[in-house]
Amino acid sequence: METNRSIEFFDRQFRRQIDAREFELNPFEQLALPHLSGMVLDFGSGLGNLAIAAARSGCSVVALDASSTAIEHIRDVAAHDALPVTAAVADLGTYRIVDRFDSVVSIGLLMFLDCPTAWRQLEQIKDCVRPGGVAALNVLVAGTSYMDMFAPEGHCLFRPDDVLARFDGWQVLVDTRQDFPAPGGTTKSFMTIVARNSGCTDGSTPPC
Ligand SMILES: C[S@@+](CC[C@H](N)C(=O)[O-])C[C@H]1O[C@@H](n2cnc3c(N)ncnc32)[C@H](O)[C@@H]1O
Repeated sequence: METNRSIEFFDRQFRRQIDAREFELNPFEQLALPHLSGMVLDFGSGLGNLAIAAARSGCSVVALDASSTAIEHIRDVAAHDALPVTAAVADLGTYRIVDRFDSVVSIGLLMFLDCPTAWRQLEQIKDCVRPGGVAALNVLVAGTSYMDMFAPEGHCLFRPDDVLARFDGWQVLVDTRQDFPAPGGTTKSFMTIVARNSGCTDGSTPPC
């Protein structure tokens, strides 16, 4: 697949983390993990720390990311520890999700897509969550001033209210905003939302 500045940035970072054996869950992954169950899709898994932790806690996981370094690492760990994780390299700007999942997590991915693409992929993420299942989403939001990670092709800084509006009708379990200092006195502003798909196609309440 084609790479860009963002994908190359993370591929280099993942090589350094593998060499240093740095595999801790980041704060957003820690927030999401307790909400994951059943069949899990990790859309933009990075090194797969969350995918692997979810598999260790009994989930079956599909992990997708553009970084071949990350995907190879996830496959190695899953094979070594006999974990139910399928990992594949994918361009998640164009990827079509065909299966349905109990939990879908996308942490730190969608802001690397241009806004129309990011919103389209968010709709796909929501659509593939089974009734009663959860979506866990983390994105950079307006107010972020650290731009070095972004490719010139495009990026998206979300407005939290717009994200929440997309989850209208869902039960919001977590809604947090966190600011982190970044190089050069800049800021990264994140929103993390975990929401349950409370809709059943027949109008009943989950489990449908
Ligand atoms: C901030 S990292 C987050 C990774 C992981 N979810 C985590 O929390 O550590 C962003 C991830 O998005 C991936 N990524 C960026 N653009 C992508 C694209 N177009 N297709 C697939 N993955 C992409 C990068 O390879 C990287 O793994």
